[in-house]
Amino acid sequence: MAHGGGMHGVGNEDQINLSKAEQKEVRARSLKLLFSLIRPVRSRLLLSFALVVVSQALRVVGPFIIAFSIDTALPAAIRDDQTPLFLAVGGYLFAALGTASLTSVFLRYAAKVNQDVLFDLRKRVFIHTQRLSLEFHEKYTSGRVIARQTSDLDAIKELLDSGSNEMVAGILYMVFTGTALILLDAPSFLIISISLIPLFFLTRWFQKYTRITYRRTRVASAKLIVHFVETMTGIRAVKAFRKEKRNDETYAGLVEDYRDVNAKVIQLFGIYDPALIAIGRATVAFILFFGGLRVIDGSIGIGVVTAAILYARRFYDPMEGLAMFYNSYQSASSALEKISGVLQEVPTVPDPATPKRLKKPQGHLEFKDIEFHYSNGKTILHPFNLDIPAGQTLALVGTTGAGKSTLAKLVSRFYDPTVGSVLLDGIDLRELDTHDMRRAIVMVTQEAYLFSGTVAENISLGKPEATLEEIQAAAKAVGVHEFIMSMPDGYGTDVNKRGGRVSAGQRQLISFARAFIADPAVLILDEATASLDIPSERMVQHGLKTLLAGRTAIIIAHRLSTISIADRVLVMELGRIIEDDKPAALIAGTGKFARMHQAWRSSLV
Ligand SMILES: Nc1ncnc2c1ncn2[C@@H]1O[C@H](COP(=O)(O)OP(=O)(O)OP(=O)(O)O)[C@@H](O)[C@H]1O
Ligand SMILES: [Mg+2]
Repeated sequence: MAHGGGMHGVGNEDQINLSKAEQKEVRARSLKLLFSLIRPVRSRLLLSFALVVVSQALRVVGPFIIAFSIDTALPAAIRDDQTPLFLAVGGYLFAALGTASLTSVFLRYAAKVNQDVLFDLRKRVFIHTQRLSLEFHEKYTSGRVIARQTSDLDAIKELLDSGSNEMVAGILYMVFTGTALILLDAPSFLIISISLIPLFFLTRWFQKYTRITYRRTRVASAKLIVHFVETMTGIRAVKAFRKEKRNDETYAGLVEDYRDVNAKVIQLFGIYDPALIAIGRATVAFILFFGGLRVIDGSIGIGVVTAAILYARRFYDPMEGLAMFYNSYQSASSALEKISGVLQEVPTVPDPATPKRLKKPQGHLEFKDIEFHYSNGKTILHPFNLDIPAGQTLALVGTTGAGKSTLAKLVSRFYDPTVGSVLLDGIDLRELDTHDMRRAIVMVTQEAYLFSGTVAENISLGKPEATLEEIQAAAKAVGVHEFIMSMPDGYGTDVNKRGGRVSAGQRQLISFARAFIADPAVLILDEATASLDIPSERMVQHGLKTLLAGRTAIIIAHRLSTISIADRVLVMELGRIIEDDKPAALIAGTGKFARMHQAWRSSLV
C-alpha cells in the first residue's frame, strides 16, 4: 500500500483491458464514491423523483383521453350531449399544463441538486489531490491531475445535467405507456412487447461496442490533455531543444486517434438509430393491422386503435435518449473510475493517528538506523545513523546524485524512511503533529516558488500573522529590501503582473525572507543560493549568520564558500556518508573533502 501501484489512480490512463478482479475492484470503488456523493442529497433526490413520476404519469394520460373522446365523447356530442367532450378537453388541458409545469419544476430542482453533487466532488478532488504526498505528485504528472479535474469532471457533469433526467423520465415514460396500453388494449401491448425482443438484442449489441469505444474516447482525450499540458509546462525546454516538430507529430497522432474513436462512435449510432426507427415503425404497422381487423369485426372502437398507435409511436421516443444516456453514462463511469482511483490514493506520508505536540522545538535531529529507497526499490540511502545536536550548522556536500536532497526530504518528511526513523527532539516525525512539524522544520530549495499575490503575501506565508514591519525586517535581514522597494508597488507588487516579474535569484531571496520570518527550529537549505551572484550570495551569507543563530541548519551546497559558516561537514557519496567532521579538520586531512576544497581553492585563482 505504501507504494501504491497501478491499481489506484496512478498509471491507468491506458489500462483499457483490466482483468476481471481489477474490474470488480474498480467498479466497487466507483460505486462507493457514487454512494458517498448521493448520501448527502438523498432526500432531495427523492423529492425530485416524486416530481418526475407525477409529471410522466400526467404525460401518458393524453392518448387515453383521445380514445375516450373518439369512442365516447364525440358520439355523445353528435347526439347533443356535450358534457363528456368538455370533460375530455378539460382533462386533456389539465394533463398538458400539469406535465409542463411539473417538468419545469423538476428540471430546475434536479439541476440544483446535481450542481451541489458536482460542487462536492470538485472540492473533494482538489482537497485530496493537494493532500497527497510528494511521492504521488512526482509520479502522477500535472497533466493527468488536470485531466481528472477538467475532462473527467465534465463527463460527470454532462451525465448529471442531461443524462440522468432523460434516463429517469424516459424509463418512467416507457413503463407508464406500457401500463396505459395494458389497460387500454392488451393485444397492442403484446405487439409492443414482441418488438422489445429485437430491440433488446439491438441495444445490447450497441451497448457492447459503445462501451469499448467510449472507454477509448476517454483515454484518447485524457492523453490529449496530458500531452498538451506537458508540452506547455516544458515549453522552454521544448523550444530550446527544437522538440516542436516531434511534439507536433505526437500530438497529431493523438488527435488522429481521438478523431478515429469518435468517428467509430458516430458509425455505431448510424446503425443503431435507423434500426430503432425501423422497429418502431414496424410495430405501428402491426398495431394498425391487427387493430384494424378488430375494428372491422367490432370488438374495439376506432379511438382505442388511434390511442394505441399514438402510444406505440411515442413509446420508442425515449430510446434514443436512453442510448445517448448510455454514452454519457459510459464516459461518466470511466471518469468516476479514474477520479475514485485518485481519491483512493492514500498519502504515503500519513498524518499521525494520535499526534504528539511539540510546543517549543529545540532542533535536535536524530537519524536512527535509516535506510531509504523510492518506490522503484533502488536503495538510495544505505543504512546509517546520524545525530545533529540542536543549534548545529551542518553542511552536506557530495557528488551529484549522492542522495543529499533525499536526506533533506526525509528531514522535512516529504518521504518517510523505508527502515528506521527520523526524530526531532526525541519524537519520531511520523508521530509528530503535522502542524507543529511544519513550523519546526522549514526547507528552502532551489525552486523558490512564488504564488500569485503580492511580495508581502509571499513572504508572510512563513508567518501568516506577520506585520509589515516584520516582513520588512525579514527582507532586510536577507538583503532583498532594496530590490523590493525598487519594484512599482514595493511590497504590494503583484508577482505575476507586469513589473512584478522577478529573476531566479530574486525569487530565492524572497523565499529566504519567507523562511526567516517563519523562524523554524530546523532550517534546511537545499542549494538555496545556487542562483545568486557572488555579491548577493555574500550578502545572504552575512544574513545567514543571523538567520542560523540559535537553530539547527542543514546546508546543501556545491559552492564551498557557503560552507565556511558550518560547524560540521558531511560528505556523501552514492548514498553513504563517507566523511563527517569539523571543516578545518577535513581540510587538513587527505580525504574527499580535502581534495574538493583544494580543487575549489585553485579554481578561485
Ligand atoms: N522521486 C524519485 N524517484 C526515484 N528516484 C529518485 C527520486 N528522486 C531522486 N531519485 C534518485 O535518488 C538519487 C539521489 O538523488 P538526490 O536528489 O538525493 O541527489 P542529490 O545528492 O541531491 O544530487 P544533486 O547534487 O544533483 O542535487 C539519484 O540517483 C536519483 O536518481
Ligand atoms: Mg539535490
